[in-house]
Amino acid sequence: MCGIVGYVGSKQAVPLLVAGLSRLEYRGYDSAGIAAIGPKGLQVVRRPGKLSVLAAALASEPIEGKIGIGHTRWATHGRPSQENAHPHTSGAVTVVHNGIIENHLELRSQMEALGRTFSSDTDTEVFAHLIDQAVVEGAKSLAEAVRAAIARVEGTYAIVTLCDRFPDTIVAARNASPLVVGVGKGESFVASDVPAILEHTREIVFLDEGDMVEIRASGYAVTDRSGATVTRPVETITWNASQAEKDGFPHFMLKEIFEQPRAVADTLRGRLLPDRGDAVLEGIEVPLGKANRIVLLACGTSYYASLVGKFLIESLGRLPCEVDLASEFRHRDPVIGPGDVVVAISQSGETADTLGAVREAKARGAWVMGIVNVVGSAIARASDATFYTHAGPEIGVASTKCFTAQLTALALLALYVGRRRGTLSEAAGRELATAMAALPERMTRCLEHLAPSPKTQSPLVDLALRFRGARDFLFLGRGVNYPIALEGALKLKEISYIHAEGYAAGEMKHGPIALIDDGLPVVVIAPRGPGYEKVMSNLAEVRARKGTVLAVATEGDEAITKQVEAVLRVPEIDPRLQPFLTVLPLQLLAYAIAVARGNDVDQPRNLAKSVTVE
Ligand code: AGP
Repeated sequence: MCGIVGYVGSKQAVPLLVAGLSRLEYRGYDSAGIAAIGPKGLQVVRRPGKLSVLAAALASEPIEGKIGIGHTRWATHGRPSQENAHPHTSGAVTVVHNGIIENHLELRSQMEALGRTFSSDTDTEVFAHLIDQAVVEGAKSLAEAVRAAIARVEGTYAIVTLCDRFPDTIVAARNASPLVVGVGKGESFVASDVPAILEHTREIVFLDEGDMVEIRASGYAVTDRSGATVTRPVETITWNASQAEKDGFPHFMLKEIFEQPRAVADTLRGRLLPDRGDAVLEGIEVPLGKANRIVLLACGTSYYASLVGKFLIESLGRLPCEVDLASEFRHRDPVIGPGDVVVAISQSGETADTLGAVREAKARGAWVMGIVNVVGSAIARASDATFYTHAGPEIGVASTKCFTAQLTALALLALYVGRRRGTLSEAAGRELATAMAALPERMTRCLEHLAPSPKTQSPLVDLALRFRGARDFLFLGRGVNYPIALEGALKLKEISYIHAEGYAAGEMKHGPIALIDDGLPVVVIAPRGPGYEKVMSNLAEVRARKGTVLAVATEGDEAITKQVEAVLRVPEIDPRLQPFLTVLPLQLLAYAIAVARGNDVDQPRNLAKSVTVE
């Protein structure tokens, strides 16, 4: 989820591009770069690190031109570095890109076979070579060259291109990644997101899937996937810049809750093989041969994702899977060593306890793989291999989209283990993989049902207003939904500051049942599936003690309606994948209650996004 901006007009492009990128740093901030065409032809400056580093370099090494493109990076392929920063240049062409090119390795070897050399580890650089190759082979326009290139690319992209053979034109194209055009007087803009150009124009064209646009100072022209000229509506944006950064959502957390279908889709992309009922881990081969167990290590929300991972790995791989709190594991003289497969799960990749646990496991001879969202982070560097989630940067301290992206990575790992160990047949693998491929659509449906218009509050508001004064909450779940009870309680604690406990529903009668009275809201996770009857009897135990029950239940389950105060519905899905859906109403409930209590949802008290202290 990188930030892109482009400009052509009568003003010097560079200051305008830097200002635009500063409005996009929430999309990525590990390196930045700018290219412009001016009196000295095509010039490119790029630097690793925050945008301020690039701005300082441009101050000492100014480049000129009234046409230019800029980029702020969120690494997916290739660690944050100067050579991996965008723009990437090949011959007369330079490009900036947001997205993931699935067949980049294959295209790279085709380009190398033509004698081309690569200077980065990114997937993007292959785009520069493909377009330059088309120019060299005689493309009559930059648009023709870009169209030739995208015809060979599989994956997602918002690609923006400059070429000093066509110095008055920017060409951009999109496939699954967002791209907008800004309409100005005697100038035109292109950007991955509205905030970058809002101070210059409120006349915005949102490009459709497969659209390509040629941009000049005099105007722009859009063509669709077939190359036919099309007209897209010009919308007038009324948001202010900060609203625009949140895409019109009141908070980053709510925006990130609604980004989950995309985060799951991007984390599945190129790894899930539904036709073969299998999964690949981006070239990682997990040494399962001698492994008698898999040990998952994490903290906080990542720890709860690991508990779901244990469920999936054991049920598909029939391999013992232990889950440990990293802060406990590393100080416990753990029994770990050669032959053991350890997986460390972390959004930030910087959590000190998880990093310490990784080092401890490695020092004792275990093989360690990181499941991390930040490319090049400490845990990624300390691990033998890293399988990245592709959730993009997560701004809200309360983790949401990174949690479901972690569930996705763990489900892919479980599928991989099951197929490699032969405990999961190709047919059974295909059945699960098909259900996994449907996750983004099911999650979208669930979110749209719970909060019909993401930019307004949902029926959850009534519940939030009713329960915002509650002193305590109890969350109950069974089986694969037990970790979701724990996660639901954590989300509520983190942002609403209400004491909440997640509990295995079957455990309730061994103590917490004493807490129940008509003042305690109890959230029962009761989707149809294995354990449903058992959960329903736990629910009855709560009702018998006048507890106030809010249920997370499957669409169409009318039986439960009569027994509870409120029902939060989720679509039917393969029971092993229920956590992807049952967590959504709990995230939204915690959010709505925190808003009803007037809390700073994105930056709750006493919490940091990544805990780098021990
Ligand atoms: C979750 O909402 C919290 N921000 C916190 O529990 C977090 O999950 C924990 O600190 C682990 O962070 P990590 O995933 O970056 O390692």
